[in-house]
Amino acid sequence: MLRTQVAIVGAGPSGLLLSQLLQLHGVDNIVLERQTSDYVASRIRAGVLESGTVDLLVKADVGARMLSERLVHEGFALGFAGRDFRVDLKRLTGDVVSVYGQTEVTKDLLAARVVAKGHLIFEATQVALEGLDGAHPTVRYTQGGKTREIACDFVAGCDGYHGVCRQSVPAAALQTFERIYPFGWLGILADVPPAAHELVYSNHERGFALCSMRSTTRSRYYVQCGLDEKLEAWPDSRFWDELRMRLPAAVAETVVTGPSIEKSIAPLRSFVVEPLKVGRLFLVGDAAHIVPPTGAKGLNLAAADVRVLYHALVEHYRTGSTEFIDRYSERALRRIWKAVRFSWWFTSLMHKFSDDPFNHRLQLAELDYLTKSKAAVTSLAENYVGLPFERS
Ligand code: FAD
Ligand code: PHB
Repeated sequence: MLRTQVAIVGAGPSGLLLSQLLQLHGVDNIVLERQTSDYVASRIRAGVLESGTVDLLVKADVGARMLSERLVHEGFALGFAGRDFRVDLKRLTGDVVSVYGQTEVTKDLLAARVVAKGHLIFEATQVALEGLDGAHPTVRYTQGGKTREIACDFVAGCDGYHGVCRQSVPAAALQTFERIYPFGWLGILADVPPAAHELVYSNHERGFALCSMRSTTRSRYYVQCGLDEKLEAWPDSRFWDELRMRLPAAVAETVVTGPSIEKSIAPLRSFVVEPLKVGRLFLVGDAAHIVPPTGAKGLNLAAADVRVLYHALVEHYRTGSTEFIDRYSERALRRIWKAVRFSWWFTSLMHKFSDDPFNHRLQLAELDYLTKSKAAVTSLAENYVGLPFERS
């Protein structure tokens, strides 16, 4: 039987970052991942990092490539009613965001874990947690046809929304909060220069559209789509036509089209479970909460959870106190609910929910208000760059 202090399930950004920070602070851990390392390193998802996330990655010694390759964005644009309005993040908040793909963050973390000789077990299937209520939990898994066991002090469930950790907790011990939106995002990645230097979030009668990027030569675009849409119904030409129709004319003119190198549909949901600590299991990142991607908060929230949890565990092993680990759930949830609120609000403002023109008129009125009120646009900017971390 293997033995470690913290068994981490999932080698997504939360699991890898937690593993890296714990090891740097002398806490032994093992990461179990269902997929191969190549699969993990190639997943395309988030693109926007808050400064707090950048700082944590630097602290975790995985910041060098990010700091040299990221694109620093001091603002973004809101498109609506044929116009575009720039939200000047820097002027309104003094802060900026960084465009650096989750794929790159994951690659940097994987490379760092290898250099630090971290114990990572890939292709671990049938992961099962036992004894979470007692002092000696175990994690069982199968690899290469053999079943093995890890004895540990704590389990960190970093295994995403569909993972096994949250499902291992008796339903009565968790409360879930959920909102399912009646649409998804169809996203493409293409090696073409971005339409604009900054991101453009566009509200349109045909539905929402987003212009994002990964670099000055690689673009990421999304259009709102129905939940029952099939990828086969979206050849590149249809995607580019639909995107251009939904953007302000000045932006649409600058869209450079090209073959897509990835195309996928993601449903949108808001989801939170409480509490985030059950016995000796901690739920972290997407295993504990999902936000619609409109506010670019998912990965940032996952990093914020890791920040609270690694401090708590390091403190526990340093002093023997359980104060911080007992407060993990409450501290993380305070930030989570604010991000859930912001992501829900920004989603509601920018998407087409029905054919009812009343709803669209309300959205246009609120967007117009944002362009006139420094208070309103500052609230948007503050939430977008990431709220300050609370000390206690
Ligand atoms: P995951 O990335 O889901 O990782 C979980 C890991 O656990 C996976 O590697 C999985 O294979 C593994 N696993 C699952 N089950 C098991 C098991 N039983 N045993 C072992 N391992 C298991 N966030 C932002 O902050 N900014 C953005 O701009 C942004 N844009 C997004 C755009 C899209 C289209 C989508 C879908 C998401 C976006 N997000 C964004 C959200 C962000 O990608 C997630 O919040 C982030 O991936 C969460 O990381 P995680 O490590 O908690 O979970
Ligand atoms: C992305 O680039 O994938 C992206 C950017 C901003 C968002 C969501 C996704 O709000």
